[in-house]
Amino acid sequence: MRRLLIVGNWKMNKTASEAVAFIRAFQERMSASPHAEVVIAPPFTALESARNTLGPSSWISLGAQDVHWETKGAFTGEVSAPMLRELGCRYVIVGHSERRTFFGERDENIQKKVLASLRHGLSPILCVGESMAEREAGQTESVVTAQLSGGLAGLTKQDLATVTIAYEPIWAIGTGQSATTEQAVAVHRSIRLFIETSWDSKTASAIRILYGGSVTPKNIESLLASDAIDGALVGGACLIPESFVTIILFAQIQRV
Ligand code: PGA
Repeated sequence: MRRLLIVGNWKMNKTASEAVAFIRAFQERMSASPHAEVVIAPPFTALESARNTLGPSSWISLGAQDVHWETKGAFTGEVSAPMLRELGCRYVIVGHSERRTFFGERDENIQKKVLASLRHGLSPILCVGESMAEREAGQTESVVTAQLSGGLAGLTKQDLATVTIAYEPIWAIGTGQSATTEQAVAVHRSIRLFIETSWDSKTASAIRILYGGSVTPKNIESLLASDAIDGALVGGACLIPESFVTIILFAQIQRV
């Protein structure tokens, strides 16, 4: 059974001191459960204070929202995988649709980021998803498959064991219009089939596939009721301790 994973993607929200206040409020309301893993992904500038507030052996893991593929060098404004590792990150979100849309990220560079993360002991969370126009044109599966084959090119079965996929339809991100459970499940199944065809069935049945896009305390229960959905990548609803706590509580009781 795959362990559920709930990831809070803070995006460009919260200063370092706001991160401390959030984590304290969150920790007061939550305790660990073997049934769900929790990751928070603050901005780079809040990672250090987040780590210090979480403490050295926290059950909550730290993730970054992006990474550069080189280890170091003349790449103004960028942050490398070893830098993130040293700050205590275990996960990194790669290829988020906001990075693809606003910063021109392409599958070729996303694949380099996935490989760099793996090389330096970070678990990449690769985001894929279609626009509304692509969905309406019946291209959802082909778009998602192309993003997967680009982003995961050259990875071994061993590499895949530390990769998570997040299916995030662009039209559902930040819009309040989540995909229905049925829509998400259909794409999750095609993602798993792609992994099986490209690698093997053992790799496909082990990999976690999260759903992201307007996940809230209201729709999480229905999404997690399907065993095709292994957790959620949460944006807006992860910024308020109460709603993030409620989402995690649903995950903690889901696969008991
Ligand atoms: P949202 O964002 O939950 O605010 O839709 C999800 C994401 O972009 O990861």
